[in-house]
Amino acid sequence: MTLLSTVDDTRAFGARLADLLRPGDLVVLIGPLGAGKTALAQGIGAGLGVAGQVTSPTFVIARVHRGPVPLVHVDAYRLAAFEVDDLDLDASIEDSVTVVEWGEGMVEHLVDAYLEVRISRFDDETRSVELVGHGGDWIQRLSCADQGQVGVI
Ligand SMILES: Nc1ncnc2c1ncn2[C@@H]1O[C@H](COP(=O)(O)OP(=O)(O)O)[C@@H](O)[C@H]1O
Ligand SMILES: [Mg+2]
Repeated sequence: MTLLSTVDDTRAFGARLADLLRPGDLVVLIGPLGAGKTALAQGIGAGLGVAGQVTSPTFVIARVHRGPVPLVHVDAYRLAAFEVDDLDLDASIEDSVTVVEWGEGMVEHLVDAYLEVRISRFDDETRSVELVGHGGDWIQRLSCADQGQVGVI
Protein backbone atom coordinates (compact mmCIF):
# COMPACT_ATOMS: atom_id res chain seq x y z
CA MET A 1 0.00 0.00 0.00
CA THR A 2 1.26 3.49 -0.86
CA LEU A 3 0.09 6.77 0.64
CA LEU A 4 -0.66 9.60 -1.80
CA SER A 5 -0.86 12.94 0.00
CA THR A 6 -1.64 15.16 -2.98
CA VAL A 7 -3.06 14.89 -6.47
CA ASP A 8 0.48 15.31 -7.82
CA ASP A 9 1.57 12.30 -5.78
CA THR A 10 -1.26 10.34 -7.40
CA ARG A 11 -0.20 11.46 -10.87
CA ALA A 12 3.44 10.62 -10.09
CA PHE A 13 2.40 7.18 -8.90
CA GLY A 14 0.54 6.65 -12.19
CA ALA A 15 3.63 7.71 -14.14
CA ARG A 16 5.80 5.22 -12.23
CA LEU A 17 3.17 2.54 -12.70
CA ALA A 18 3.38 3.13 -16.46
CA ASP A 19 6.96 1.79 -16.34
CA LEU A 20 5.50 -1.53 -15.34
CA LEU A 21 2.91 -1.62 -18.12
CA ARG A 22 3.16 -3.23 -21.53
CA PRO A 23 0.92 -3.48 -24.57
CA GLY A 24 -2.02 -5.74 -23.85
CA ASP A 25 -2.31 -4.81 -20.19
CA LEU A 26 -5.67 -4.06 -18.62
CA VAL A 27 -5.73 -1.84 -15.54
CA VAL A 28 -8.98 -1.62 -13.56
CA LEU A 29 -9.17 1.48 -11.36
CA ILE A 30 -11.37 1.03 -8.31
CA GLY A 31 -12.44 3.76 -5.92
CA PRO A 32 -15.37 6.06 -5.16
CA LEU A 33 -16.22 9.27 -7.01
CA GLY A 34 -13.38 11.74 -6.52
CA ALA A 35 -10.95 9.09 -5.36
CA GLY A 36 -8.41 10.05 -8.00
CA LYS A 37 -8.98 7.45 -10.71
CA THR A 38 -8.75 10.02 -13.48
CA ALA A 39 -5.73 11.67 -11.82
CA LEU A 40 -3.99 8.31 -11.76
CA ALA A 41 -4.93 7.70 -15.40
CA GLN A 42 -3.39 11.10 -16.22
CA GLY A 43 -0.16 9.93 -14.62
CA ILE A 44 -0.23 6.69 -16.58
CA GLY A 45 -0.74 8.69 -19.78
CA ALA A 46 2.18 10.96 -18.92
CA GLY A 47 4.37 7.96 -18.10
CA LEU A 48 3.49 6.28 -21.38
CA GLY A 49 4.15 9.54 -23.23
CA VAL A 50 0.79 9.65 -24.97
CA ALA A 51 -0.59 12.64 -26.83
CA GLY A 52 -3.42 14.81 -25.60
CA GLN A 53 -4.70 15.59 -22.16
CA VAL A 54 -6.17 12.68 -20.28
CA THR A 55 -9.49 13.89 -18.87
CA SER A 56 -12.49 12.21 -17.39
CA PRO A 57 -14.04 10.21 -20.22
CA THR A 58 -17.44 10.08 -18.52
CA PHE A 59 -19.40 11.42 -21.47
CA VAL A 60 -17.27 9.74 -24.10
CA ILE A 61 -17.04 6.26 -22.56
CA ALA A 62 -13.72 5.49 -24.27
CA ARG A 63 -10.92 7.66 -25.58
CA VAL A 64 -7.77 6.50 -27.35
CA HIS A 65 -4.57 8.49 -26.77
CA ARG A 66 -1.89 7.84 -29.33
CA GLY A 67 1.67 7.26 -28.24
CA PRO A 68 4.57 4.81 -28.27
CA VAL A 69 2.10 2.55 -26.48
CA PRO A 70 -1.44 3.89 -26.95
CA LEU A 71 -3.65 4.43 -23.93
CA VAL A 72 -7.30 3.39 -24.13
CA HIS A 73 -9.05 5.23 -21.30
CA VAL A 74 -12.53 3.94 -20.55
CA ASP A 75 -15.19 5.13 -18.12
CA ALA A 76 -17.59 2.27 -17.64
CA TYR A 77 -19.84 4.18 -15.20
CA ARG A 78 -22.79 4.42 -17.56
CA LEU A 79 -22.26 1.10 -19.23
CA ALA A 80 -24.13 -2.05 -18.51
CA ALA A 81 -22.05 -5.21 -18.62
CA PHE A 82 -23.43 -6.30 -21.99
CA GLU A 83 -22.47 -2.95 -23.51
CA VAL A 84 -18.84 -3.38 -22.51
CA ASP A 85 -18.64 -6.22 -24.99
CA ASP A 86 -20.08 -3.94 -27.68
CA LEU A 87 -17.21 -1.50 -27.19
CA ASP A 88 -15.02 -4.07 -28.92
CA LEU A 89 -12.32 -3.30 -26.39
CA ASP A 90 -10.44 -6.50 -27.06
CA ALA A 91 -9.65 -5.31 -30.57
CA SER A 92 -7.25 -2.70 -29.24
CA ILE A 93 -6.29 -4.41 -26.01
CA GLU A 94 -3.41 -6.28 -27.62
CA ASP A 95 -1.38 -3.25 -28.62
CA SER A 96 -2.55 -0.72 -26.03
CA VAL A 97 -2.61 -0.21 -22.33
CA THR A 98 -6.29 -0.13 -21.38
CA VAL A 99 -7.27 1.74 -18.21
CA VAL A 100 -10.88 1.42 -17.07
CA GLU A 101 -12.62 3.54 -14.45
CA TRP A 102 -15.70 1.99 -12.84
CA GLY A 103 -14.86 -1.27 -14.55
CA GLU A 104 -14.98 -3.54 -11.53
CA GLY A 105 -16.95 -6.65 -12.35
CA MET A 106 -17.49 -5.57 -15.96
CA VAL A 107 -14.32 -5.97 -17.98
CA GLU A 108 -12.28 -8.61 -16.21
CA HIS A 109 -13.91 -11.38 -18.24
CA LEU A 110 -12.44 -9.89 -21.43
CA VAL A 111 -8.89 -10.87 -20.53
CA ASP A 112 -6.97 -13.59 -18.73
CA ALA A 113 -4.98 -11.16 -16.63
CA TYR A 114 -5.43 -7.67 -15.25
CA LEU A 115 -4.11 -5.29 -12.64
CA GLU A 116 -6.52 -4.02 -10.02
CA VAL A 117 -5.67 -0.59 -8.58
CA ARG A 118 -7.65 0.19 -5.43
CA ILE A 119 -7.74 3.81 -4.33
CA SER A 120 -9.12 4.74 -0.91
CA ARG A 121 -9.97 8.28 0.08
CA PHE A 122 -9.57 9.58 3.62
CA ASP A 123 -11.15 12.62 5.28
CA ASP A 124 -7.93 14.66 5.11
CA GLU A 125 -7.79 14.41 1.27
CA THR A 126 -4.95 11.92 1.36
CA ARG A 127 -5.38 8.71 -0.60
CA SER A 128 -3.93 5.26 -0.40
CA VAL A 129 -3.42 2.97 -3.33
CA GLU A 130 -3.04 -0.76 -3.46
CA LEU A 131 -2.11 -2.93 -6.44
CA VAL A 132 -3.56 -6.41 -6.81
CA GLY A 133 -2.47 -8.54 -9.74
CA HIS A 134 -4.78 -11.11 -11.27
CA GLY A 135 -3.53 -13.85 -13.56
CA GLY A 136 -0.70 -13.83 -16.07
CA ASP A 137 2.64 -12.77 -14.64
CA TRP A 138 1.22 -9.96 -12.50
CA ILE A 139 2.34 -11.55 -9.24
CA GLN A 140 5.97 -11.66 -10.44
CA ARG A 141 5.82 -8.18 -11.95
CA LEU A 142 4.45 -6.70 -8.73
CA SER A 143 6.99 -8.47 -6.56
CA CYS A 144 9.79 -7.07 -8.78
CA ALA A 145 8.26 -3.62 -8.27
CA ASP A 146 8.01 -4.28 -4.55
CA GLN A 147 11.72 -5.00 -4.40
CA GLY A 148 12.40 -1.58 -5.85
CA GLN A 149 13.43 -2.94 -9.24
CA VAL A 150 10.87 -0.80 -10.98
CA GLY A 151 10.38 1.79 -8.28
CA VAL A 152 6.60 1.76 -8.22
CA ILE A 153 6.10 1.08 -4.56
N1 LIG B 1 -4.13 12.73 -2.94
C1 LIG B 1 -4.98 12.95 -3.98
N2 LIG B 1 -5.01 12.11 -5.02
C2 LIG B 1 -5.89 12.30 -6.05
N3 LIG B 1 -6.76 13.34 -6.13
C3 LIG B 1 -6.75 14.23 -5.13
C4 LIG B 1 -5.87 14.07 -4.02
N4 LIG B 1 -6.11 15.09 -3.16
C5 LIG B 1 -7.07 15.84 -3.73
N5 LIG B 1 -7.46 15.34 -4.92
C6 LIG B 1 -8.53 15.90 -5.78
O1 LIG B 1 -9.57 14.94 -5.86
C7 LIG B 1 -10.13 14.94 -7.18
C8 LIG B 1 -9.97 13.57 -7.81
O2 LIG B 1 -10.70 13.59 -9.00
P1 LIG B 1 -10.66 12.46 -10.10
O3 LIG B 1 -9.26 12.04 -10.37
O4 LIG B 1 -11.47 12.95 -11.23
O5 LIG B 1 -11.44 11.27 -9.32
P2 LIG B 1 -12.26 10.04 -9.93
O6 LIG B 1 -11.85 9.86 -11.36
O7 LIG B 1 -11.88 8.88 -9.05
O8 LIG B 1 -13.71 10.38 -9.77
C9 LIG B 1 -9.37 16.02 -7.96
O9 LIG B 1 -10.12 17.21 -7.91
C10 LIG B 1 -8.07 16.15 -7.21
O10 LIG B 1 -7.50 17.44 -7.33
MG1 LIG C 1 -12.89 9.79 -13.16
